[in-house]
Amino acid sequence: MLTTRRHALDLDDFSVREIEDVLNNAEAMREILGRDIRKTPALRGKTIITAFHEPSTRTRVSFEQAGKILSADVINVSGSGSSVEKGESLYNTALTLQAMNADVIVIRHPHAGAPHFLARHLRASIVNAGDGGHAHPTQALLDLYTMRRRFGRVEGLRVAIVGDVLYSRVARSDLWGLTAMGASVVLCAPPTLLPVDMVNGYRGAPGHPFASVEVETNVERALDGADVVMPLRLQVERQRAGHLPTLREYSRAYGINARRLALAKPNALVMHPGPMNEGVEIDPEVAHGPQSAIEEQVTNGVAVRMALLYGLTTPAREEA
Ligand code: CP
Repeated sequence: MLTTRRHALDLDDFSVREIEDVLNNAEAMREILGRDIRKTPALRGKTIITAFHEPSTRTRVSFEQAGKILSADVINVSGSGSSVEKGESLYNTALTLQAMNADVIVIRHPHAGAPHFLARHLRASIVNAGDGGHAHPTQALLDLYTMRRRFGRVEGLRVAIVGDVLYSRVARSDLWGLTAMGASVVLCAPPTLLPVDMVNGYRGAPGHPFASVEVETNVERALDGADVVMPLRLQVERQRAGHLPTLREYSRAYGINARRLALAKPNALVMHPGPMNEGVEIDPEVAHGPQSAIEEQVTNGVAVRMALLYGLTTPAREEA
């Protein structure tokens, strides 16, 4: 089965089966990435426009690469250098891109909800490549894929997400995906960087997908027995003042170093959405050590985005 959905705005409305479809298709796409000639005509004649209104390396380049491997025409637009700088609104920018017959618009935007707004008004499929502190669904899909590829499953894994949970769109989308797939999640941060709803709201709330999520302010307790350790970058561009005494103090209390990693399971995987602030949330020897899957996440991101673009633009067919 291929997905029947038009948009990928967050994982909160993905069923387990849809997530599994993307991960299964990503496996086939990963095989294409290993070929000498990395090209397949699956999306020939389709146009993908990436519109990034915030900086990006991994997400923007991997969407471009994914589209090109699938033989789509890929056009990149950025906030700087476009007519956004002359004051053109998001809506008018999007209408302009749609008038160029975009089949898919991949958007990153500093404001939460911008991709949802476009999805309500445009014919093209909209993919959220990160909206403010809200959601980053393709990062979550590639994180799930990386875990499944390494462990053969996501269900039952203990995943410790450590750092700036408050401003992290990755943490939010990962939470939807991980809980749907049956992982157990512990969020760890200083109290000032934990969302109030996480601290007060969900623990034990009957039936809520986040009811089983643990919240911890002590990093040693959070890492104890973890299968996956995922430090998060401090989103200083979003933070207001007063969250932390100093970066040095944060690193001392929450940075993932070899001593702390040893508290996790012996084969625990280190993941990071990137970009990293080495020496702050993660030590270089951990970031580039034998347990790190950080570069593999980037490669997997191309395969997952290929799978998603294919699913969004190819008519669904039911399994026989
Ligand atoms: N993980 C991620 O979104 O990285 P970029 O900001 O480089 O796209």
